[in-house]
Order: sequence, then structure tokens, then C-alpha cells
Amino acid sequence: CVKEPLKVMISGAPASGKGTQCELIVQKFGLVHISTGDLLRAEVSSGTEIGNKAKEFMNSGSLVPDEIVIAMVAARLSREDAKKNGWLLDGFPRTFAQAQSLDKLNVKPDIFLLLDVPDEILIERCVGRRLDPVTGKIYHIKSYPPESDEVKARLVMRPDDTEEKVKARLQIYKQNSEAIISAYSDVMIKIDANRPKEMVFDETHTLLSQINLNRMIKTDKA
Ligand code: AP5
Repeated sequence: CVKEPLKVMISGAPASGKGTQCELIVQKFGLVHISTGDLLRAEVSSGTEIGNKAKEFMNSGSLVPDEIVIAMVAARLSREDAKKNGWLLDGFPRTFAQAQSLDKLNVKPDIFLLLDVPDEILIERCVGRRLDPVTGKIYHIKSYPPESDEVKARLVMRPDDTEEKVKARLQIYKQNSEAIISAYSDVMIKIDANRPKEMVFDETHTLLSQINLNRMIKTDKA
């Protein structure tokens, strides 16, 4: 039977664990991970025109203008691998205008995962977050420390992960979240993400597997 590729959106406040869950989802389901944060950070570090425009917004914790991000995502979604293997959209849409742009392109997810974590936990997660520039893996100095001294020595902190900037990012998230959630309420599932990452993944894994299973049953019946 022909299996339709999965289309997944993952949303939640800064440091709710989107990137961490995406690593696990990609390993299991082979979806194309499209993270606007990662794409923008790559543009900044390569010093492209987009990167130069985005840098100041990102470093201050504010949103990059819609037109820049929308064009970037539309280009990435139209590539063959995303069409063939399915996609996992992380950190987009983040504004109502971004959600509308996807609607115009007729891009709709099968499921919208909303990671729910109390505010006071988010700050601690951001401040302790470290990234491995070689593998792209996400760590936390206390909860998820690196596996070796070699990795530990090369970990970096994001410039927008200070307490002050996290608070600004959280406020912006709250201003936009209701409009986004209401755009996807028919496929939205809220997940308690204030649990160990493996437990959160157990739930996401079950949800995504269920969509695949339902499709197989439908295809078999057809
Ligand atoms: P982006 O990179 O998307 O940042 P964010 O949404 O603030 O999310 P984070 O990456 O901070 O967190 P996360 O949820 O992925 O958590 P993680 O898994 O790393 O965007 C950055 C910037 O780019 C924006 O501020 C904006 O300027 C710009 N931008 C991006 N998209 C845009 C858009 N659409 N429009 C306009 N501008 C845009 O986990 C965090 C920490 O917690 C880690 O240390 C991790 O180890 C730990 N952790 C994870 N899960 C758990 C768990 N279950 N228990 C304990 N610890 C955990």
C-alpha cells in the first residue's frame, strides 16, 4: 500500500523541548526537520544576506520579520525530500500572518503538537542549554549533560539564552500563541512536556504511529 508521508507541526514556548523531541521524532519517523530557528542560525553563521538581516532580531529575542521567514519555509517545504518523506515543522508558524501564508499555500498538518511546560521551568532550561556545533545535538548542563569531555569542551551557548532575553521571548510567544493555536485547533494535541524527554517522546511516538496506522487501515479498506 502507498503510505502518505506524515506532516507534523510542533509548537510551544522557548525551551519547551521542541528541538529535543524533533531529534527523537526524526530518528524514528525519518521526517524532514524544518526548524526556522536552526535555518536562521545557519544563515547567521554563514553571514548571508538573510543572516545579516535576522541577526539583530534574534540576538535581542524578538521575531524575525514575517516575509523573511515565510519565504525561507516555503522554499524548504517545496523541496522533493519534504514532499516525499514528510515534514516536521518546528518553530513555524509563530504569528498569525505566518499561519495564513501556509493556508494560502494549502499546507496543512496532520497533527499540531503543543508542548506545555510551566514558565518557571522554561527559564532554567534555557539558561542551562548547550549546543554541540559539530553534531547539532542539544544538551542541558544539569538534566542532559554531554557524554564525554571531548563533547563538553566544544559546547556553545546561544546568545539569546540569557534570563532577560528568555523572558522577552516568552512574552512574545504568549502574545502570538492563541492566534496560532486557534488556527490548528482541529488537529491540536496538548502534551505535558514537563516530564523526562523519553516520557514525552513515548506520547508523541504513540500519536504519530496512530496516524500512520489509521492510514494503513483506510488504504487497505479502499
Ligand atoms: P528557536 O530556535 O525556534 O527558539 P525557541 O522557539 O525559543 O525554542 P528553543 O530553541 O529555545 O527551545 P526548544 O523548544 O527547541 O527547546 P530545546 O529542545 O532546545 O528560535 C530562535 C529565534 O529565531 C527566535 O527568537 C526568533 O528570533 C527567530 N525565529 C525562529 N522562528 C521564527 C519564526 N517562525 N518567525 C520569526 N522569527 C523566528 O530544549 C531546551 C533545553 O531544555 C535544552 O537544554 C534541553 O536539553 C532541555 N530539555 C528538553 N526537553 C526536556 C525535558 N523533557 N526535561 C528536561 N529538560 C529538557
